Amino acid sequence: MKQTFYITTPIYYVNDVPHIGHVYTTIAADVLARYRRLQGSPVFFLTGTDEHGHKIEQAARQNNETPRQLSDRVVQRFQEAWKQANISHDDFIRTTEARHQKTVTALFEQIHAQGDIYKGEYQDWYCVPCETFLTELQLDQGLCPTCHRDVEQLTEESYFFKMSKYQARLLDHLKKNPDFIQPESRRNEVIRFVEGGLKDLSISRTGLKWGIPLPHDNRHVIYVWFDALVNYLTVAGYPDALDRQGLWPADLHVIGKDILRFHAVYWPTFLMSAGLPLPRKIFAHGWWTIDGEKMSKSKGNVVEPTVVIQEFGADAFRYFLLREVPFGLDGNYSTAALTSRFNNDLANDLGNLASRILSMIHQYTQGKIPPASSGSEELQAIIAMLPARIETAMNALAFHEALTGIWQLVEKTNQYIDHSAPWKLAREPSQRPQLESVLYHCAEALRILSLYLFPFMPETAEALATRLGLIPDQCFARGALLQGTQWGVLQPGLQTTKGEALFPRIQTPRPSPRTRKPGKE
Ligand code: ME8
Ligand code: MG
Repeated sequence: MKQTFYITTPIYYVNDVPHIGHVYTTIAADVLARYRRLQGSPVFFLTGTDEHGHKIEQAARQNNETPRQLSDRVVQRFQEAWKQANISHDDFIRTTEARHQKTVTALFEQIHAQGDIYKGEYQDWYCVPCETFLTELQLDQGLCPTCHRDVEQLTEESYFFKMSKYQARLLDHLKKNPDFIQPESRRNEVIRFVEGGLKDLSISRTGLKWGIPLPHDNRHVIYVWFDALVNYLTVAGYPDALDRQGLWPADLHVIGKDILRFHAVYWPTFLMSAGLPLPRKIFAHGWWTIDGEKMSKSKGNVVEPTVVIQEFGADAFRYFLLREVPFGLDGNYSTAALTSRFNNDLANDLGNLASRILSMIHQYTQGKIPPASSGSEELQAIIAMLPARIETAMNALAFHEALTGIWQLVEKTNQYIDHSAPWKLAREPSQRPQLESVLYHCAEALRILSLYLFPFMPETAEALATRLGLIPDQCFARGALLQGTQWGVLQPGLQTTKGEALFPRIQTPRPSPRTRKPGKE
């Protein structure tokens, strides 16, 4: 029986090293996976790499490597970046694995048995100088989009999938399930595309070797997008263990808008043909540019996640990516914007709050969480509203909105300290119970904050819990959100520690990752 929340990222091409765009999608999925675990759901979070096809074959040739060597080398870069970004995936699939070949072959055979595959001819374009196969769509005014020279037309034998057969069913599904494709604007795009008519899809190639051979005709390899999309089923146990594993259908495919058509049109029609349920939701997020320009190797403005993480920390990077731009919209990355979020939201607001509270507890109650003899209506009121607000935001993948809600608690707690002025209460022995209550409420607010922060900023959440004298593994265990957001869970008597500043302010303005254009500054 299906119970597990199954969430996926795209599988990334290994012809390039991971950059900010790849880690963005993966962090977003990670935040949701962590949040659902905190809520008590069984979660399965899948990511991985796409290692077949022409792109990889070509990149390997340029590097004087075999495609296998290239994949084995670059996959480590992705795995290292995920580790540094604290990605909590449950599996990492590589399309060159035997388990994947088995599933792709089985799905292809199922669709074939359905009568949805036929042999035909595929008209391709080829750029000889670049040695690149191009589709009609990729041409730039009839020329090679890379070198702007003439392209040749090639005709090759190919197997086709009867995608056109599923046009009406797909349209019906799209219309009946408003949540299937999100955000709304993307859904409308897909509906217009499908209404425009679906052609049959070429799903095999003879021009290259680096792929999974067709079961009945090994002169052909399976088209890389068929191969890639099926990764979601491989891990779900297709064909033998699909029911037993209880993962399928996927609850959420998180992708970038560049690959929406493959996921929202091709993928559902493959699944329909094979008689399998469709994923429940596909969310296509927006595009990052760097200082207003598209990221590219030739411009030298590719932001490497591991470099940013070394400089700012994983949590600040995770926070920035999800706070700066509403998920679904395009955004612009700049070191200046990251530095400003770091100094304002993290150092001034959150970091300062934590250090104020822990220093006062250190100073006034020997570092021990004091007992509270009265409540705090203002803090309890906002804390009572947070679960619903955050749940709504997370269901909509509105990460920036969830963070705004969390930061309201940060702000309210800072204000609470200002006007309760514990330093004044500390001067009056008769105010001792009041002082202790205020400190307890502050510590309790900090504990609840750590819980909500955990999906977004796991290291910070763990540091806060540890400083409060708690055990992080217990605080953030599966289901912790159910009881943990209740007021008054924190036990008086715990020994706290002050610790270093969580986010030491960054003083120097840093140059953007792009090398400055001469004469500009
Ligand atoms: O397309 N801004 O892999 P890929 C935001 N292998 N997100 C970005 C981005 C940017 N500038 N650049 C990349 C493929 N991404 C296929 C996928 S899935 C079955 C097969 C992210 O390495 C975004 O998630 O080109 C985008 O969809 C993905 O990386 C494309 O990665
Ligand atoms: Mg791409």
